[in-house]
This record gives sequence, C-alpha cells and structure tokens, in this order.
Amino acid sequence: MREQEKDCERILFSAEEIAAEVKKAAAWLDERYEGCEPIAISVLKGSVIFFCDLVRAMKTPVQMDFMTLSSYGGGTSSTGMPKIVMDLSASVEGRDVLLVEDIVDSGHTLVKLKQLLSGRGAKSFTVVSLLDKPSRREVDVKADYSCFTVGNEFIVGYGLDYDQRYRNLPFIGVLKREIYEK
Ligand code: IMP
Ligand code: MG
Repeated sequence: MREQEKDCERILFSAEEIAAEVKKAAAWLDERYEGCEPIAISVLKGSVIFFCDLVRAMKTPVQMDFMTLSSYGGGTSSTGMPKIVMDLSASVEGRDVLLVEDIVDSGHTLVKLKQLLSGRGAKSFTVVSLLDKPSRREVDVKADYSCFTVGNEFIVGYGLDYDQRYRNLPFIGVLKREIYEK
C-alpha cells in the first residue's frame, strides 16, 4: 500500500475504473472530431494525468498545448477569480479547441476559460472534465462530457492535489477531513 493511501477516507474510483471511463470519453471525442485535428489543451496541473491518458486513447490526431491557472494556494475552496500563470504557446484562432479539465467545482475557472478562448477566435469549443462536482456550482456552466460525478467532498489522486500532494496516486479518493482541517 502507498503511504499516501492512508490519508484517503475511501477510494472512489480505481485505476481500472478510470481507464474504462477514459476509453469511453476518447471514443466520444473521436466521433465528435471525425475529420478534424483539434488543439487539445490541458489546464495544469490538475488535468495532466487525465490529459495524457485521454489523448493516447483517442484515434483522432491532436495537437497539444498547456495553460496554467492560479490555484487555491493550499486551501480547499476556490477564490472565484483564477488568473493565467502560463499561457498557451499556440494561437487558437480558427481552431477546434478541446479543453481538458480535472474537475468542475464552483465553475469559475471554466467560465473564465470559455470567455478567454472564445475571445481569441476559436472555431469550436468542447470541454471534457474528469470529474463534475455539481453540488458546489456557483455559476451556470457544465462540461460537455464528464467521466464521473462526485459529491461535496475533497477529492485527490489521478492529478488532483491537496497542497500539491497526492497527484500521482493512480486512483481517485476522498481525502480525510483531518488532513485539511488540522
Ligand atoms: P472551480 O471552482 O470550478 O473554478 O475549480 C477550480 C479548480 O479547483 C479545479 O480545476 C481543481 O484544480 C480545483 N479543485 C476543485 N475541487 C477540487 C477537489 O475536490 N480536489 C482537488 N482540487 C479541486
Ligand atoms: Mg488543484
């Protein structure tokens, strides 16, 4: 057992369950993007593990780009106004954009990204999120495709962190309250 597994109250989705859902998401995208070569954007750092598995499961040719937004800075709730820390290297003008997110929580990050990228002239915009946490939504926004829905709990693993830790856990779990309430 991994040392960090003890900090999880329970495992929500195993590596095998995740892999099966990633395959389904990739098939959904392949159908949607037939004949296209989208630019796939990973919103760092949370989506990077999902992103790498997803693009490799897709048969559609994709270009890859990365963007880093400001995060919680150690807490467990969003400040509402994410800022760009590292921008994309390529232009999205006239491109089919596939945005890959780790989780849609309050929804502020996704709203901001949608505004930003449509302002840059993207031709189409599709959002795939590993997780959806609808109970915490503060703005009316949704991914076009989510692999899993979770409740109002703090999730770690498979890219998701608490204070930059737990990202390389191969499963998705609920972090024990005592870890972030101490
Ligand atoms: P937003 O509240 O929808 O803007 O989400 C902002 C970001 O907060 C997400 O992209 C995640 O990186 C992070 N986040 C939200 N909920 C969780 C969680 O349960 N665990 C880890 N990170 C989270
Ligand atoms: Mg995070």
